[in-house]
Amino acid sequence: MALHTDKISVETSETSKIDTVDFNNLDFGRVFTDHMFVCDYEDGKWQNPKVMPYQAMTFDPSARVFHYGQAVFEGMKAYKDDEGKVFLFRPKLNFERINKSSARLAMPAFPEDYFFEGLEILLKLDNDWIKPGVGNSLYLRPFVIATEPAISASPANSYRFMIICSPAKSYYNSAVRVLIADHYSRSANGGVGAAKAAGNYAAQFYPTSLALERGFQQVVWTDADSHTLLEEAGTMNVFFRVNDKLITAPTSDRILDGVTRKSIIQLAEDLGITCDVRPVSVAEIKEAAKDGSLKEIFGAGTAAVISPISAFQHQDELFEISGVDAVDSYAKLFKQALLNIQHNLSDDKHGWRYEVK
Ligand SMILES: Cc1ncc(COP(=O)(O)O)c(C=O)c1O
Repeated sequence: MALHTDKISVETSETSKIDTVDFNNLDFGRVFTDHMFVCDYEDGKWQNPKVMPYQAMTFDPSARVFHYGQAVFEGMKAYKDDEGKVFLFRPKLNFERINKSSARLAMPAFPEDYFFEGLEILLKLDNDWIKPGVGNSLYLRPFVIATEPAISASPANSYRFMIICSPAKSYYNSAVRVLIADHYSRSANGGVGAAKAAGNYAAQFYPTSLALERGFQQVVWTDADSHTLLEEAGTMNVFFRVNDKLITAPTSDRILDGVTRKSIIQLAEDLGITCDVRPVSVAEIKEAAKDGSLKEIFGAGTAAVISPISAFQHQDELFEISGVDAVDSYAKLFKQALLNIQHNLSDDKHGWRYEVK
């Protein structure tokens, strides 16, 4: 483990932008709080960690991130309860995942103490940006980029780790229509699909724009070899409810190991709902849609929490899913259960809440 002994320095912003923000009409990811956390990797160690006013930065045009996409990120949220206590949800998993992503992109691991101390200082300074109330949150975006100025195609020697924060309401609240991929792929065996690598997202934009032109908001990716197995959506893992059973694909080196997915699998077990974690074929889901046993499909991820799917198209067949608005939908059940835990409204028997004191 690299040495890291510097204390986090803090420079506070002289003014706040908060009064210019309409918290009832937030466009996801466009408004940022007053502060950010920055730490640089130089000479083989993470150093000079600081919390400072949010601001633009300059980078050398030859910084390797611009040429080779050496960049990884995370997505997590802070929540506030009615007494003003602030919580993160299973943040250790995000910390571990960013380092797993970094390892896959030949980038150095970030120290756990800096990650959590930086977050805590930031959340204290920008506390007023975290609004109480279910559905409100502060989206946190830790990320690492290769900053070394040199356009040779090899891992950089210098990096910048940052955390920026953006107030959010859960988005994709209305049901989405999805297209099942039968040509393009998001990831390959042995590739970087399981990492939150920036390039994974850029690679989805074009096929997703083609889907949008056809009236579908998201693509559900299938395995690159045969396009017969359902894997995950753009920023969400996917669950299928067939009769009263849930099915979701196993994680692999193609699929992101989502925190929300993991939590739903545990909540299902707590509630006595069977959740099969196994390869899910396009054919079986189409069959279930035809014979009426397919009750729901939903996506699960930090940003949207749970996103119900109202229709899916595969090649030239379109299937509408009727159970989306049912009062006893699993999508509603799990969304409420997760929100209640996140906002300190229910018991937390697995110790998922992390209070920021
Ligand atoms: C590709 C992909 N799959 C799934 C997820 C859901 O993961 P999580 O529940 O940890 O947000 C995300 C979002 O981070 C994602 O980008």
